[in-house]
Amino acid sequence: MLENLKPQPADKILALGQAYRADPRADKIDLGIGVYKDASGKTPVMRAVKEAERRLVAEQDSKAYTGLLGDPAYTDALRDMILGDAVPGDRVSCAATPGGTGAIRQALELIKMASPGATVWLSAPTWPNHPSIIKYLGMSMAEYRYFDAATRGVDFAGMMADLDQIKSGDVVLLHGCCHNPTGANLTLEQWQAVSDHLNAKGAVPFIDIAYQGFGDGLEADAAGTRLMAANAPQMLIAASCSKNFGIYRERTGMVMAIAPEAGMKTVTQGTLAYLNRQNYSFPPDHGARVVTMILTDPELKADWMAELEAVRLGMLELRKQLADELRKRSNSDRFDFIADHRGMFSRLGATPEQVEKMRVDNGIYMIGDSRINIAGLNAKTIPVLAQAIIDAGV
Ligand code: LMR
Repeated sequence: MLENLKPQPADKILALGQAYRADPRADKIDLGIGVYKDASGKTPVMRAVKEAERRLVAEQDSKAYTGLLGDPAYTDALRDMILGDAVPGDRVSCAATPGGTGAIRQALELIKMASPGATVWLSAPTWPNHPSIIKYLGMSMAEYRYFDAATRGVDFAGMMADLDQIKSGDVVLLHGCCHNPTGANLTLEQWQAVSDHLNAKGAVPFIDIAYQGFGDGLEADAAGTRLMAANAPQMLIAASCSKNFGIYRERTGMVMAIAPEAGMKTVTQGTLAYLNRQNYSFPPDHGARVVTMILTDPELKADWMAELEAVRLGMLELRKQLADELRKRSNSDRFDFIADHRGMFSRLGATPEQVEKMRVDNGIYMIGDSRINIAGLNAKTIPVLAQAIIDAGV
């Protein structure tokens, strides 16, 4: 049996991490995987997370299974954080999942079950795991234009022209905020236009929201998702707590399915429970419990929000410093887009050869499509990156 296996394609984000670790240079710079790092290069455990874990260890008196959908206190709290009061809770089915990837996988399985002929439309480009899972599940997919290589902003005209081809029942995957890998995001007016268009076409929005709080703030980053949820008869959402709670390895996520009416909730929620049971039975609980404790305790929540806000402002400051440095060194404003982008990533628009040159010459590791993790930078490395970008001829 095992002799029939073939080597699987390497994930380019994870492969880059391996190459970085193998590089002996002391001054190498890691701008690869989307993990937040502070100025000293550490990924700290957030204060509120530490405190919640301390309380959990002291107070938890059982590790018996939770429900198949996770603890309702968790799914309610996270649903409210993402959707606010955009849509009545009795239309929203939620299931806890292992991280955001687990949520994406469950949402796709639900689409496959409910609408096997549907095409899933992805932004070009998108997070590589999106097409990878869709392909693995044997589903049909298509791309819509998203990134404008010239301005490094959103090619909105191209996006709408491509979305004109969607059919009723198709699913359109959108990044709720902090687009990965580009950093270029829709304005609220554009969200409204996309939402109206999908409704007119009878297509279903599917939002991946993995960086809420990293862009313009916890509330502002959910605005597009909320607008669409208030407007769409049906919608799917995959959410992750990995980044905004800094609990990457705890695998804490949630899938939401918004039904046109409350009467459909029993079957929808039952389907999510069934899918959880088939794939991994009960979802992980530790991270979910920590998130619940933070979101339901005013003091812990305030402290978490303050730390998250500091992280967000720190990344904005790094963006500004990098854009300023490039303005100086290039004698032009052509890199100002870096300060306009939001979230953890920016796509620089360098060619694969230029990316390779920066890796070889300067030990700078960014994804081959020239995505950089802004949080991988600090005051010392910003001038190094800026000069490398100029030297590479970007
Ligand atoms: C990323 O895009 O780097 C993150 O979402 C981490 C991952 O798993 O790819």
